[in-house]
Amino acid sequence: MATSSIAPPIAMSASGGSIQIYEHGAHLTSWIPADSAPVIWMSSMARFEPGIAIRGGVPIIFPWFGAGRSGDLMPAHGFARTQSWTLHEQSTTGQDAVVSFTLHGSASDDANFPYAFAARYEVRLGSALHLTLTVENTGSLPFTFEEALHTYFSIGDVRQIHIEGLHDCRYLDQADPHGLIVKEQQGAVRFTGETDRIYRSSGQVRIVDPILKRTLTIDKEHSASTVVWNPWIDKAKTMSDFGDDEWPSMVCIEGGNLRESAVFLEAGQRHDMRYSVHVEPIG
Ligand code: BG6
Repeated sequence: MATSSIAPPIAMSASGGSIQIYEHGAHLTSWIPADSAPVIWMSSMARFEPGIAIRGGVPIIFPWFGAGRSGDLMPAHGFARTQSWTLHEQSTTGQDAVVSFTLHGSASDDANFPYAFAARYEVRLGSALHLTLTVENTGSLPFTFEEALHTYFSIGDVRQIHIEGLHDCRYLDQADPHGLIVKEQQGAVRFTGETDRIYRSSGQVRIVDPILKRTLTIDKEHSASTVVWNPWIDKAKTMSDFGDDEWPSMVCIEGGNLRESAVFLEAGQRHDMRYSVHVEPIG
């Protein structure tokens, strides 16, 4: 029988700070470092219901991004963010808190991804936040998947931040009304309108925030794509779970493997993607 609510979140704290995470989508909705303001952004209009993705936090995108490489898959961004994951491990030792979840799929579960897999997601809170998404092919057929950790960051004002680390990187501009055109980033990324870009980048990215007076540094491993997203004014108005005036206070910097960087796994193979964030005060 379908339930009308999702399980309450798991809250953990250690000397490094505190986190909150739902089994629904294994969705992290809060990270407050011990010596800093909240880092993760949540929409005031987010819905916490079965079958719906939570707006804000860190949605897990798997096994396809958007409508997938074929352009016609549903639900948007894959099924992992709307399924209930199974709590696997939960422990706290001094500065560190660790929680992990698993999600298993079989060949008959989803016609758009008819493969057996085991996914594991670990969230480790220490002086930084460390996220690891592992996908294993547990079936007999090879498969290809896309993945992303769609992190929403809380910022002072998107019009005043800039993003370092993407200079010279090629990107697909998903917000260009003329169509999907490959462009090349010159200098830092600054925001003057709707921004929705898939960068080909595996390197470090920094969000420099002069209002909150901090730099958020994102490091990745085994992630060839970085998505930068802010919906701006008009798109924010089209999303029922996103407040009309909330767009200046957030930016998404997603670590993933998308489009031509999708991951191919033979039967029995495994892929780990790591994404970490640390906070440094400015001045
Ligand atoms: C981003 C995409 O990753 O997610 C955007 O690049 C999309 O195109 C955004 O609008 C939000 O997606 P959703 O499905 O959570 O509304």
